[in-house]
Amino acid sequence: MSVLIIAGSSRSASVNRKLQQRICEVAEADGRACYAYPAAELDAPIYNGDDEQENGVPSNIQKLASAINDATKVVIVTPEYNGSIPPLLKNAIDWTTRLEQNPWVGKTVLLAGASPGRLGAMRAMTHLMVIMGAVQSWVAPLFLSCPQASDDTIAQFDGEQIKNFLKQGD
Ligand SMILES: Cc1cc2nc3c(=O)[nH]c(=O)nc-3n(C[C@H](O)[C@H](O)[C@H](O)COP(=O)(O)O)c2cc1C
Repeated sequence: MSVLIIAGSSRSASVNRKLQQRICEVAEADGRACYAYPAAELDAPIYNGDDEQENGVPSNIQKLASAINDATKVVIVTPEYNGSIPPLLKNAIDWTTRLEQNPWVGKTVLLAGASPGRLGAMRAMTHLMVIMGAVQSWVAPLFLSCPQASDDTIAQFDGEQIKNFLKQGD
């Protein structure tokens, strides 16, 4: 049973990366093997069919697909940009679906998100739910939202709530 946790921000002070770490800590304390995927490794050229024909799928995206294949479930921690998900994340997901074997098919996917605002990335998670359904993953119904995200609110995020969230799809 292994949990891959992907955060959709490579910003050094990212609250979503902090939430990724917090989820990982709780998962490990709960006896789950956990891998916090390095956000910088999601970075790829904006998808373009000519580029794909010439160069194929970027090697870091192939590595990401292997990590998804190896995981029992995947948690995606998304920032919210203008009510939706950031391009770093959307582009990485789009590239993974260009591989011969789409790694998302049948995969259990859990959605989380943090934002300094009051909605805690709920609108981004709602969009992500539709996208992850389109790539044929199974999206768990309970989202983990962290509003007013800061070092303190993330550190104090209820561990029991995270544990219950992670149980989905067991
Ligand atoms: C282009 C852009 C659009 C944003 N739109 C929203 C938004 O719709 N809702 C929201 O709660 N925060 C929004 N924010 C603020 C982000 O939630 C905030 O910058 C957050 O810290 C980004 O996540 P990160 O810290 O993990 O990088 C936006 C930020 C940017 C740069």
